[in-house]
Amino acid sequence: MGINFLSFGSALPQGTVTNDDLSRMVETNDEWIYTRTGIKQRRVAVTESTVSLGTEAAKKAIEKAGIDKDEIDLVVCATITPDTNFPSTAGMVRQAIGLRDIPALDVFGTACAGFIYAVSVAQGLMATGGYKTALVIGAETLSKITDWTDRSSCILFGDGAGAAILGSGEGRGIISYHLDGINDVDGYLLCRLPSSDSPFYKGEKVDYTKMQMNGNKVFTFGITSVINGVRQMLAASGLTADDISWIVPHQANRRIIASAAHRLGIPEEKFYVNIDHVGNTSSASIPIALDEMTDKGLIKKGDKIIMVGFGGGLSAGSLLVEM
Ligand code: COA
Repeated sequence: MGINFLSFGSALPQGTVTNDDLSRMVETNDEWIYTRTGIKQRRVAVTESTVSLGTEAAKKAIEKAGIDKDEIDLVVCATITPDTNFPSTAGMVRQAIGLRDIPALDVFGTACAGFIYAVSVAQGLMATGGYKTALVIGAETLSKITDWTDRSSCILFGDGAGAAILGSGEGRGIISYHLDGINDVDGYLLCRLPSSDSPFYKGEKVDYTKMQMNGNKVFTFGITSVINGVRQMLAASGLTADDISWIVPHQANRRIIASAAHRLGIPEEKFYVNIDHVGNTSSASIPIALDEMTDKGLIKKGDKIIMVGFGGGLSAGSLLVEM
């Protein structure tokens, strides 16, 4: 018995912002962005919300799994851009889809490692709590926390959602996972909430509530995270890189992926990359990639896949699954 990925689904908002569009907003150009990041365009919410994108991705995953929605007995959603403090995004999606009255919780703050964290939480609850079928979502509207006047960060991010159905059954399914948390004392990557406006509060005042990033530091962290994540999964399973069909890394920067592949001595073609048309969608990035791969027929039964997420927190996580 294992915990298996039964399906994936994804949703992207209507808006498309090309590098040329950005060059009319900040001092940049298509060539600089593409050569430094591998990004050509990203999708941005026009009327969509984190909940609406998460709901669309979840509906597609349910349809592709061929299950009745009443079979789902747990919802876990990773996000750093919820629409509400509460209810949880997972709870709002549960209501929007018309699921039963089942537990729904968010994994908040683990940013681009969020999907790996959410799957790990769902897997733990399924293994010990008796849940049989879980809906796991990564949903983001990063455009609302992006500083569209900061050319060093606004070029990277996009909106979107990805979802997966996890089911317990035959097959090995999830073989191993590893979660990492690293103190980000210097604030390499963070997004603050507004400070309290309570009449009693006398502490620090926070006005700037957009994403802040030290690109060079995060770049190095990204490469290290992908290398460590892949090595951890191989060491934990006794497999070699030749046994792995695909590595699905968080889509942060094509050069991070290329550099990690080179240092690992694994052909870059084994790393799935879709950053050119979606940019960095944080917790949604890995499930959007997996859904695309499934639609293209790139994933076969029995394939072993390593997923690696990394980002704000600082947080990182890797997961090895047999499909
Ligand atoms: N267009 C044109 N020039 C730009 C620019 C842009 N969008 N952004 C920065 N520059 C300039 C800088 O001002 C700097 O100019 P200077 O040399 O005159 O000072 C120069 O380009 C080089 O900047 P640098 O920051 O060293 O570039 P880089 O090659 O490191 O690329 C990032 C910057 C942000 C693309 C890169 O560091 C990165 O992707 N980091 C990881 C970010 C990430 O993945 N975050 C999310 C993690 S989950």
